[in-house]
Amino acid sequence: MAALSSLPRLTVQGTVRAPGDKSISHRALIFAAMADGPSRIRGILPSADVHATAAALRAMGVDLPALSEDFVVRGRGLAALHSPEGALDCANSGTTTRLLAGLMAGLAGREARFEGDASLSRRPMRRVAEPLTQMGAHIQFEGPPGHDGLPLRVRGAPLTALRYVNSHASAQIKGALLLAGLAAGVEVTVEEPVRSRDHSERMLRARGVALECTDTGVTLAAAQRVLPVDVSVPADPSSAAFFACLAALADEGELRLEDVCCNPTRTGAFDVLRRMGAHLRIEDARDVGGERLGTLIVQPARLQGTEIGGAEIPRCIDELPMLACLASRAEGVTVIRDAQELRVKESDRIRAVVDNLRALGVQAEERPDGLRVVGSMRPLTGHVVTHGDHRLAMAFGVLGALPGNDLTIDDPGCVAVSYPGFWRDLTAATSPRSSVAVSGSPHTPLVIAIDGPAASGKSSTAQWVAKTLDVRHVDSGAFYRALAFLAVESGEPPEHWTAESMLGRASRISWRLTERSVLPLVDGRDQDESLRGSAVTKTVSRVAAMPAVREWVNGQVRAAGAAVDVVVDGRDIGTAVFPAAQLKVFLVADTWERARRRLVQRLGRRPTDAEIAEEAEALVARDAQDATQSAPARDAITIDTTTVTQAEQVERIVALARAARERLRR
Ligand code: S3P
Repeated sequence: MAALSSLPRLTVQGTVRAPGDKSISHRALIFAAMADGPSRIRGILPSADVHATAAALRAMGVDLPALSEDFVVRGRGLAALHSPEGALDCANSGTTTRLLAGLMAGLAGREARFEGDASLSRRPMRRVAEPLTQMGAHIQFEGPPGHDGLPLRVRGAPLTALRYVNSHASAQIKGALLLAGLAAGVEVTVEEPVRSRDHSERMLRARGVALECTDTGVTLAAAQRVLPVDVSVPADPSSAAFFACLAALADEGELRLEDVCCNPTRTGAFDVLRRMGAHLRIEDARDVGGERLGTLIVQPARLQGTEIGGAEIPRCIDELPMLACLASRAEGVTVIRDAQELRVKESDRIRAVVDNLRALGVQAEERPDGLRVVGSMRPLTGHVVTHGDHRLAMAFGVLGALPGNDLTIDDPGCVAVSYPGFWRDLTAATSPRSSVAVSGSPHTPLVIAIDGPAASGKSSTAQWVAKTLDVRHVDSGAFYRALAFLAVESGEPPEHWTAESMLGRASRISWRLTERSVLPLVDGRDQDESLRGSAVTKTVSRVAAMPAVREWVNGQVRAAGAAVDVVVDGRDIGTAVFPAAQLKVFLVADTWERARRRLVQRLGRRPTDAEIAEEAEALVARDAQDATQSAPARDAITIDTTTVTQAEQVERIVALARAARERLRR
C-alpha cells in the first residue's frame, strides 16, 4: 500500500477536550432530579440529546436551570415529580426515552406520553416496555398496530420486584429497570449476556444506593433513596474516539485528548486502535467521582485490519461507524461481527456505513451482524448520506479531513445531537495555522451576525468584512436559494410547494469549508451561478417563509458557526439563529437607495428614476412579506448606510468586530 506521495501531508497537533460524556450527562440530570437536595453539575454535555432529557425533567416539575458549564439542580425527591402536561419530546435520544420510561413506570399515579423524531420513533421500545410491564407498569404503544416504537404512553404503578435476564447487553434497559426499581422501592436484578456500560451502577453507588454487581449482572435492594451529589462530567470517550482515529490516520504530529472517561466498559475502541497498530497511550490516569479519567496521547501509525466481535462489541458499540471508516484506510481486511445492535441505533448503522463507504469507492460488504471492509489508500470522493445520524456525520467527517479525500456530507448539523462543536474541533486539530490548537469547550468561535431588510447590502458587506478579518463568510440566503433551485428544477408549480417537499430534497444539499466561505453545494457541486438566477430569485421568498425550512437552514448555519469563525448574513441571524453572537449588526437604508443599489448591481449602469420607482415598490412589497423575520435583535447595532459608502460601513463593522474578538480572547 504505497502512500500517495504527491498528496499534502496531514499534521495533527494540539489538545482536544471532547465535550462531556453523554451517558453520564443524562444520568447526572436524572439522579439529581430524583434526589432531595441540591446537586451541582459541572461540564455537562450541552447537546440536543441532553437538552431533551433536561426539558422532559422540567416538564415533570424539576427545578432545572438552563444547561451551562456549572449549575445546580434543586431536586425535591420523587414525590415532587408529576405527570407532564404535554407529551415528552425525546427528539433523537434513545437514552432519554428508555431511562425516563423506567423512571415514570415506577411513579405510581403519574403518566406521560413519549414522542420523538422519525429516527427515534423507528427504534425498538418493546425491549424496555416488556420488563417494565412484567413489573406492573402500564405501557401502551400508540403508533400503528404492531409498531414497536414511539409514541408510547407509560403509566406508573406500584411495581413488584423483578429478576430479568436480558438477551441484549444494553445499559439503557439496565438503567431503565434500576430507575423503575428505585422509584417504586422494589428489588431489581438485571442479568446481561455481556456487561454493558456501568455508569448507572457507579453513579448510584456514589449517591448512596446499595448495589451488588457481578461480571454480568446487578442487583438493587428494595427501598433506597438517591442522595444529592455533585458531579464533574468527564470527556466522552465516544466523542474523543473520532480524534483518536484522526490522529492515528494522520501523517505526523500528535493529539492529546484530555479528561477522557476511561471506564473499562467504554474503552473498547482504544483497544481496537492499539490492536490495529495505533500509537495510543494513557497518561495521568486518575479516579474522579467513581470514574477513571486519563489523557490519551495518539500518534499516527501504519494501521492493520482486525476482527472486532464478542464481548468487545458493547465496549465500542458507538464507535463502530468510526472504526469501520478507519478500517477503510488500514492494510488488509477488517471484520466486525456480533454487532446486530447497530441496526437499531439512530440509523441502521451497518447498512448506512457500508452504503456510504461503497459510494466513496471502498470495498465494503454488509453482513447480518456486522460488516467487512477492505482497506486501501485510494483517494475517496463522493457524497455521504447521514440519515441524520450524528456518528455517521462525524466518522465520515474524519475521513473527509484526510488529504486527497473529497467528501460532502448531507447534514453536517446533525452532530449537534452529541458534539455541537465537532466541526470546530476538527478544523482546529487539522489546521496548520493553529500551532497550539487548544479546542473543546474553552474555544468559542467568533460569530458576527449581519441582518437587515432585502437589498440592504448584507451579503456584499458581510463578504467584505469576512475578507478583512480573514474569517469565513456564510450566506444563509444561499441555502434557501439552493432549496428553491431544487424546487424549480423539479418542475412542481410554486403554488404547490410545501415544507415537506422542500425538506424531502434537503439531503441533496451540503456544504464545504472553502478558504473564504461556507459554500452550499447541490448534489456535491457548487451551483452559485444558478442559485443567483431569476427563477430562484423570484421564488426564494416563498421558500424562506416556511418555518420548518427556516429551522433546517438555521441548523446548517449554526453547524458552520460552531465549526469556525464566521460572518453570517441573512434574516433573523442575530435573533433566531445566533442569539449569542458576539457582534450583531443591523443594516438599514432608505427604500429609494436600496432600490437604486440593487439596480446598479443588476443592470451594471445608472438606473433611471422610473426604474428605481418601480424597484422601490417591489421592495416595499417584499419588506411586508418578510416583516416577521426582519426585526433587529435587541442588542444589535444599527447602521444606516443610506449616506455612507460601503467602504465606510465595512470599516465600522470591522472595528466593532475587532473589539468583539478582543473581548472573546480575554
Ligand atoms: C447508552 C447505552 C448504549 C449506547 C447509547 C448510550 C446509555 O445503548 O449505544 O449511545 O447511555 O445507556 P444500549 O443501551 O441500547 O446498548
